[in-house]
Amino acid sequence: MAGGDQTKAWGGRFSEGTHASVEAMNASIAFDRVLAIEDIAGSVAHARMLLTQGLLDADEHRMIESGLEAIATEIRAGRFEFTVAREDVHMNVEGALADAIGPTAGRLHTGRSRNDQVALDLRLWLRRELTALGEEVAATVEALLALATTHAEVPMPGYTHLQRAQPVTFGHHMMAYAAMYLRDLDRLLDARRRTAVLPLGSGALAASPLPLDRHRVAAELEMPDITLNSLDGVSDRDAALESLAALSILMVHTSRLAEELVLWASQEFAFIEISDAFCTGSSLMPQKKNPDIPELLRGKAGRVFGALQALLVTMKGLPLAYNKDMQEDKEPVIDAFATARVCMGILPALLGAIRVRPERLMAALADGFLLATDLADHLVEQGVPFREAHHVVGAAVGLCLERGCRLEDLDIEALRSLHTAFGDDALSVLDPARSLARRDLPGGPAPGRVRESIERASAALEGLRERLAEAGPSALERALHAGTPLPPPKG
Ligand code: ARG
Repeated sequence: MAGGDQTKAWGGRFSEGTHASVEAMNASIAFDRVLAIEDIAGSVAHARMLLTQGLLDADEHRMIESGLEAIATEIRAGRFEFTVAREDVHMNVEGALADAIGPTAGRLHTGRSRNDQVALDLRLWLRRELTALGEEVAATVEALLALATTHAEVPMPGYTHLQRAQPVTFGHHMMAYAAMYLRDLDRLLDARRRTAVLPLGSGALAASPLPLDRHRVAAELEMPDITLNSLDGVSDRDAALESLAALSILMVHTSRLAEELVLWASQEFAFIEISDAFCTGSSLMPQKKNPDIPELLRGKAGRVFGALQALLVTMKGLPLAYNKDMQEDKEPVIDAFATARVCMGILPALLGAIRVRPERLMAALADGFLLATDLADHLVEQGVPFREAHHVVGAAVGLCLERGCRLEDLDIEALRSLHTAFGDDALSVLDPARSLARRDLPGGPAPGRVRESIERASAALEGLRERLAEAGPSALERALHAGTPLPPPKG
């Protein structure tokens, strides 16, 4: 072989070695090694296509495929030695293949560049992670539906501005989060659909003069589509950006739920008790039981938002096509998925282990004039314009504050002195159960409506789970991850 640096895949035109400090910066193996099995899956699919296109003969193909399978075995067993000298995951796998089968390994990269290779690996990895995360989000929805079912009729104060506002039920409150997580799951699936597009065949940027069959590779990897343009194929990181955006919104929801759990577990609210299994104590104060896990769920959101921001800034303004800046995509993406998966992995169990305290919810409901709007609505039903009714009931609240009593302690004469339209049954509206039962619009907190929303959500969850099971990682990737025999070539 001619050329300078024989240890580098690109060493041919170089006469000087790499500066000692460059390797540490240039190499991505410390983090892109998580793509190793996806890298091998892409190579197996590529080699199968090279065989059918006459670019590999049967012997060469057999050596390459079984060599790649053996490397996957080493990786699964944790025996594979990734080296910084081989720079990235692609060169580590190819280098190990060359160690094992000799110069035939050099034929694997026919018609391929690391630029389209890494774009493919990342898409395969995203598809797998989005699927796994989706399953965890589905389990979270299920845990919320279980809580909502048990507490569909348990009244609690609903809040705006963190001030007691109107009665809802604990089940209704849980269903608000179920709605958020159903959207999250839908978003993850949308992102996954656009991720499953094959960029291989884009080459370094301008495709290849060789007769590659891109559709065949896509079929092997069960990707329904191929990228439209070779420049875009190697330089687009939308799938990563979109995934990070979906993860960020998911973490917004998780942080809000976590914050409510922290608040509700405080002695000030004492609406719930969080199982000891998800709390820790203080090394100094013996009485403490701290809600660390909800606090971490709240705190970890920031990391995921940071990952989205980091990748947006990395991609902004980059000229076409591939630029090495894009190697910086992996750490935020990998960290964000690891973070979101830890959070969503723990959330169903945490939710399953909270104890709701209906007596505390009820006590909070008794105080704070939560039924004032119901009294105003009563006046509206008597024909009083709402603005006027609002004003009158405001005066009634003022009267109570003066007397240090609750609305239900006023008598009908006191109410009528504020407005003659108060009916004989005016005071009977001041009952939380009655108020809830009457908030009977679709999406409302009436217990029947909460049960209806649970049914709707269960049906939606079932549909999303079907989608989740359908277009996940290919049989080839699954076999390489599991160490089972590879499926036969497609077609
Ligand atoms: N490790 C590289 C990355 O993640 C792979 C692509 C390298 N391509 C190149 N022309 N140097 O982006």
